[in-house]
Amino acid sequence: MGVGKVAVFSGIGIAALSGLTWAFLKSSTYDDLNSVLSFSSRVAAGMRAYEGKEKEPLYSDPLAELLAGQRGMQAASTAMKRYEGAADKESKADRKYLVGRVALRTLYYDDHLLAACKAGARQVVLLGAGMDSRAWRLDLPEGISWFEIDRADVLNAKRKVLTEAQALFSVDTNKGAKYPLRAAIYRACEADLGSEHWTERLIAAGFDPSVPTVWVAEGLLPYLSEATVTALLNSARSVSAKRSRFLMMAFTSEDMVKSYNECANQTPVAWAKELSATFKSSFPTDARPYLEERGWHAVSVNFYSDLADKYAHGLPWTSTPGMMVNLGLSSSSSSDTKTVFIDAIPF
Ligand SMILES: C[S@@+](CC[C@H](N)C(=O)[O-])C[C@H]1O[C@@H](n2cnc3c(N)ncnc32)[C@H](O)[C@@H]1O
Repeated sequence: MGVGKVAVFSGIGIAALSGLTWAFLKSSTYDDLNSVLSFSSRVAAGMRAYEGKEKEPLYSDPLAELLAGQRGMQAASTAMKRYEGAADKESKADRKYLVGRVALRTLYYDDHLLAACKAGARQVVLLGAGMDSRAWRLDLPEGISWFEIDRADVLNAKRKVLTEAQALFSVDTNKGAKYPLRAAIYRACEADLGSEHWTERLIAAGFDPSVPTVWVAEGLLPYLSEATVTALLNSARSVSAKRSRFLMMAFTSEDMVKSYNECANQTPVAWAKELSATFKSSFPTDARPYLEERGWHAVSVNFYSDLADKYAHGLPWTSTPGMMVNLGLSSSSSSDTKTVFIDAIPF
């Protein structure tokens, strides 16, 4: 072999090796996941898990800490530490932490999801399901088909954790199980929600467009472009039977997206820096006409303060998002009314 060829081959070898090293570094930084966006699922689970550290937690999510993993818990702890002790100072509440925003949104989605199932929905689709454990913890009515859509790395990592925890994926084996499946069937569906064909993949996984469905987008929409959000709403609408619902949360201010993007370089926290650069879209301040144009009618529109009024039982809560805390942003840029929770029906 000539010197030139050796140089080319060793060049390719070095490139391949550094590619592998980079992939390894990434996946070890993000606990077996490929990107910061996938890792955000572990951070959300970590934030949820912190509520379980209270003497009288507002909900129980025993799988959350396992699903968050060590790095997800570590990431969540950065924000939660700032909330430590503040609860006692602000009130006589016997709590370690202020009630977090992820805790409030957990209670909101639990409540609205169960209400939709009780009102007749028989399918649940979690869009960007991440490390959500509701299929193993909610007291669902009988006969619910449960679908989770996310990227392959997230779904695989989740299945691994759940299998190790002996959570079940089928009701046939439920008897005596520590974490029985609460839905009638569970299907994980790998799909890119930014692609045109995700509904086809969902149908191939067993989803039935003639059955009333609850669509759940929790902690997802701001990461998608406006065009993708529009396409997603239209696609979900096109396979929604009557009496379906869409539970979503979104930013309603471009400022919020800009604040995240602009502050990406101001934080020493590597994952927060990377994630804040990925925020892309918001709804307009008045979300109702925006949704109407996309085939959805908002039945209710709520802000974090509404959620706190309803679910925090007078306990002190934080109006600053954990991500903002990590980025060192002031609370003025995170005003309560900039995140909206919408329960919508198709028309
Ligand atoms: C912040 S996490 C929220 C996870 C979960 N809904 C929760 O609240 O705990 C965002 C999730 O959306 C998923 N996601 C983001 N963009 C996606 C896309 N284009 N297709 C599929 N999943 C996506 C990520 O992989 C991640 O699991």
